Amino acid sequence: MIAAPSTPAEIAELLAFYASTGVDDALEDAPVNRFAEASRPKQTERAPAAATPVRESRPQEIPSPRSDQDGAPERQAPSPRLDASNIPDAPARAMSATVPDEAQAALARQMAASASTLEELRRHMEAFDGCNLKATAKHLVFADGNPESALMLVGEAPGRDEDIEGLPFVGRSGRLLDRMLAAIGLDRTSVYIANVIPWRPPGNRTPTPHETEICRPFIERQIELVNPKVLVNLGGPSAKTLLNTSEGILRLRGNWRAHTTASGIAIPAMPTLHPAYLLRTPAHKKLAWRDFLEVKAKLRAIG
Ligand code: URA
Repeated sequence: MIAAPSTPAEIAELLAFYASTGVDDALEDAPVNRFAEASRPKQTERAPAAATPVRESRPQEIPSPRSDQDGAPERQAPSPRLDASNIPDAPARAMSATVPDEAQAALARQMAASASTLEELRRHMEAFDGCNLKATAKHLVFADGNPESALMLVGEAPGRDEDIEGLPFVGRSGRLLDRMLAAIGLDRTSVYIANVIPWRPPGNRTPTPHETEICRPFIERQIELVNPKVLVNLGGPSAKTLLNTSEGILRLRGNWRAHTTASGIAIPAMPTLHPAYLLRTPAHKKLAWRDFLEVKAKLRAIG
């Protein structure tokens, strides 16, 4: 078993590690000064646990591995940010481990807006170092499929297989997506596929709101450059990010919405269930099937 950090330096190191991997939310209701706790003598050394009941501190809640949270309860509102620069007496090395901030989001917006082709956008994303997820990912997962397609599908973030191959939806959920597309007569030569987040979150954890905000300009520009006639949001995170809504996917799915680009073009968008969710909840495949039939009918109607 790994010993819990007990000195201020060890705690600062752990917090810096969390921040560098994107864990930037503290999930307890009230802030706890662990440094003060660390410098206090340990209670267990003074009295046996049975004689002096001491309230166990709740273990650090780390976002569970991303299992594409569609249909899952909404996440808690964010609590105060962890940032090594807020920690008194943190060692100098930890100070540099800050979480993504507004300056990086602004840079992302600037780099995305200045790309006039998809190739240029890909180069700008490869050059962008403002998202901490890039540090742990093997590859940028930019897109797959046909950029001339009338249909663009957007998922949440790459998983392990996608990170290895540098292509979206190539794992188990990708194989299900291929079958869903085939059911309406489409395949990867006739659709274009991307993700809101182009770098794999470590351990497939859920991307943080900061990470999503930093990556948002890139996917928005990507949609604008592809200019599809129809957009499909695969899962809640894609729908919420690109349709500016906080509604859950089970409520959103099956109803046409619009994604409005920076230049004001409204693209019809169909939110549907994420293939990873369907793998876990096969009874809902019929709902996704209905949504894909809607998409097929829309593409036919648009011509
Ligand atoms: N899930 C996603 O949202 N995107 C992928 O590329 C793979 C799994």
